[in-house]
Amino acid sequence: MKKKIIIANWKMKLMSAESAGFVEEFVKIYKSNKKMEAVLCPTFISLQSVAAQLKDKEIFLGAQDCFWEEDGAFTGEVSPKNLKELGCRFVIIGHSERRSHLLETDEVVHNKVKAALRQGLVPIICVGETFEERQEGAKDFVVMNQVTKAIEGLELDAEDQLIVAYEPVWVIGSGQAVAPEEAEHTHQVIRQVLIDHFEPATVKERVRIIYGGSVDSSNIKDFFAFQNIDGALVGGASLEPETFNNLIQQASQVN
Ligand code: 13P
Repeated sequence: MKKKIIIANWKMKLMSAESAGFVEEFVKIYKSNKKMEAVLCPTFISLQSVAAQLKDKEIFLGAQDCFWEEDGAFTGEVSPKNLKELGCRFVIIGHSERRSHLLETDEVVHNKVKAALRQGLVPIICVGETFEERQEGAKDFVVMNQVTKAIEGLELDAEDQLIVAYEPVWVIGSGQAVAPEEAEHTHQVIRQVLIDHFEPATVKERVRIIYGGSVDSSNIKDFFAFQNIDGALVGGASLEPETFNNLIQQASQVN
């Protein structure tokens, strides 16, 4: 049985001292449970110190991006091998903020996913439509296309896991999530793409589809009530330890 997962994406919002302060408080109040995994994704700069703080705690570490090569002359880039070395288990890839501000293409996302898997990291592949794409009625097509391009030709080895995060771009940071029914529908569409590509059993056991976009402690239960929603990727509501812990506790109450 796959566990549900809640992932904190701190983006560029918590500096090193703030990250340290968060973890110091969070480890005191967070109670791990059998149903749920919790992941913190600080900035690259804070990874090492957060890793030390999380040692022997049942809280996982993730990065917000990685490069598609392991090493070499790539000034300023961060190797997935280095992330693994620091204790990361997860890495966010193709977040819409990187797709729009850093012009990351589907090909870049695909290469990063492969590089992450080579290191035994779990890629969190972000997909989602913009408001304009939605208004054109292209939502499902856009999402299917992004997922397909990210996983084209990919095989999952026995130990590999994958996460697809559906994040409608237009609700990120808006305070207004999409209706959980709508997220469930899009997750079904994504699951079908995954099943068409991998073996159904592989998808069932090793791929999780999670929702992101204005998730908070007041709506998390509504999302988790749906069968195809395996977790959440949380931005704003993950920046304070009490708020994030409360969100996880709410989610844990859903069967
Ligand atoms: P918010 O939860 O702030 O809408 O951010 C979502 C997000 O982009 C997580 O990756």
